[in-house]
Amino acid sequence: MQLYIDTANIDEIKEAAALGVLDGVTTNPSLIAKEKIDYRRRLAEICEVVKGPVSAEVIATDYAGMMKEGREHAKIASNIVVKLPTTVDGLRACKAFSDEGVKTNMTLCFQPLQALMVAKAGAFLVSPFIGRLDDVAEDGMDLIHKMRQIYDNYGFQTKILAASIRHPKHIVDCALAGTDVATVPFGVIKQMLNHPLTDSGLKKFVEDYRKAFGG
Ligand code: E4P
Repeated sequence: MQLYIDTANIDEIKEAAALGVLDGVTTNPSLIAKEKIDYRRRLAEICEVVKGPVSAEVIATDYAGMMKEGREHAKIASNIVVKLPTTVDGLRACKAFSDEGVKTNMTLCFQPLQALMVAKAGAFLVSPFIGRLDDVAEDGMDLIHKMRQIYDNYGFQTKILAASIRHPKHIVDCALAGTDVATVPFGVIKQMLNHPLTDSGLKKFVEDYRKAFGG
């Protein structure tokens, strides 16, 4: 399973990239608003650090506006993926970009038929928001399982990018369900290597060795 970081903060991206296992980045308008920086300038900075796919979301919600903004985003670097909402206009833009060879990430996906439609339109990535489904007492993982089955039934190549991840258990469940990619906030990436028995076990190994041999 590939690992993306879900942030527009450049320090977090650099720190995660230094781990050596980061495959890409997702951003969204809310994340960039937190940074209070020009969106395209930040995207260019991110593409300098990470060579894998970097999702750049459009603000426009109409077809023509999405095409215009998406084309501008795509000029920033060759690894930009144009992120579009899973709406009627977004679907049309997805098909147009796919036909032009521009990669897309279809965001705000909340039900399996949206996933089926964007796959038919040639989306490179689709982002089911599992945490936001859990937030309204639905089951985000149930959506992932349904999407995996539908894509496997028909051999769709669109990658399932689990988004809106809240905690490490989401990532374990995604990996077991055959999710292609998980995009994870920096705080949760840091939790991925944690186990108290690793910490206490390491402490004991070092103590035992020092007791016997000094140092
Ligand atoms: C995905 O691309 C989105 O940026 C993101 O995962 C949204 O997550 P949230 O529900 O925590 O805002």
